[in-house]
Amino acid sequence: MAKTSASFTCTECGAVHRKWSGRCDACGAWNSIVEETPLSSSGPASKSLGGAKGKRIDLTTLATEEAPPPRTLSGMDEFDRVLGGGLVPASAILVGGDPGIGKSTLLLQAVAAFARKGLKCLYISGEEAAAQVRMRAARLGLADAPVHLGAETNLRDILTTLEAERPDLVVIDSIQTMWADMVEAAPGSVSQVRAAAHELVTFAKSRGVSVVIVGHVTKEGQIAGPRVVEHMVDTVLYFEGERGHQFRILRAVKNRFGPASEIGVFEMTGGGLAEVANPSALFLSERGQPAPGSAVFAGIEGTRPVLTEIQALVAPSSLASPRRTVVGLDSGRVSTILAVLESRCGIPFAGLDVFLNVAGGLKVLEPAADLALAAALLSAREDTALPADMVIFGEISLSAALRPVGQAENRLKEAQKLGFSQAILPVGTKVEGGAGMAARKLPDLVTFVGDMFGAG
Ligand code: TYD
Ligand code: MG
Repeated sequence: MAKTSASFTCTECGAVHRKWSGRCDACGAWNSIVEETPLSSSGPASKSLGGAKGKRIDLTTLATEEAPPPRTLSGMDEFDRVLGGGLVPASAILVGGDPGIGKSTLLLQAVAAFARKGLKCLYISGEEAAAQVRMRAARLGLADAPVHLGAETNLRDILTTLEAERPDLVVIDSIQTMWADMVEAAPGSVSQVRAAAHELVTFAKSRGVSVVIVGHVTKEGQIAGPRVVEHMVDTVLYFEGERGHQFRILRAVKNRFGPASEIGVFEMTGGGLAEVANPSALFLSERGQPAPGSAVFAGIEGTRPVLTEIQALVAPSSLASPRRTVVGLDSGRVSTILAVLESRCGIPFAGLDVFLNVAGGLKVLEPAADLALAAALLSAREDTALPADMVIFGEISLSAALRPVGQAENRLKEAQKLGFSQAILPVGTKVEGGAGMAARKLPDLVTFVGDMFGAG
């Protein structure tokens, strides 16, 4: 008799292996491979689902008959915007972030705001005792908000409570502490996290309860983690920020009910998270006199224009392979632009250490930042400051040509609002009014170098 071949699946990435090993070859995760028992012993696909017929499902058309779901606004504008314009009923939301970044603080504030708007809200803490959460609420001035508070980690008890209470919104803080008794694994392991999230999301969908799941991620994204939960939920929000900075950014990386990549900006204060209505002004607030190595990038985050200062420092290196230290930008992108500057414009960076930073702790991932990044690098290398009233945007191709980017009008309008009066952008950019800015359109990086820093 042929032995049924068991299969081994990575719980992190889903890759299937023929034998168990300590590390998944596909994604590199450690200790993530589990044995899966085959569905039937007669081998794969020898039968279809068997003889028994299922029920025929009802098929419908794409034309909607229902009105879009009514959304509830919390009144915290930055939070509502990231959700895509308020909370959708029966939606599942994952809020991920490093430990200590402020997830519990944010969600306690949000849940209190929703409760004050009349939603029935539950906050289940698996990490802190009820007394600790109450103390925090008192410090944040939220003690009077009609939030139902529970401290529990047993998922069965939580679901029973939810079934009885039937709230509109429940926050589970955090998924790593939840323990589903039908799974034999420690809380925080992938199988526990996956099972608990699955139960919660299924409950949310079937009972019309919105559920917010908090998940910790480590810097390496290694913890048995929110990664497996991301597929299950409707919306994935990441709460990020540098530890030393008081700014925190809530970013939508997936949203079935609104635009992804939308951001909300907060400031961590003694009294909790304060909303930052005008992030551009904040990110540029520490900008002093024009200095070499500084360029202002007119970016778009989600649906909103955000101006940021890109800072570069270039110094002679004593190392065989010079440093490339990048904070807040994609380091692969930085390498590409250094290579383009070197081979297309003849400006070498060999033997020079390069440090790049986005002021304020924002992560800028748009390709439109290429030109501002190159400008900061060149300005630092040539020790020449760019004009203080200039904003820059545009994508750089490998041939050093400048490519137009979207929403130029919005970028220019925001820049003008903040007192900038000239802009450098790629030729071919569609700008209707010009927003009252002196816009210089350039075809390629070589022209830019010649214009700004003299030929070469
Ligand atoms: P917390 O919400 O507990 O983080 P997480 O749930 O993501 O682990 O926030 C922890 C940090 O926030 C802690 O270092 C203290 C700081 N904090 C403030 O600065 N002000 C406040 O009002 C609160 C409640 C926290
Ligand atoms: Mg917490």
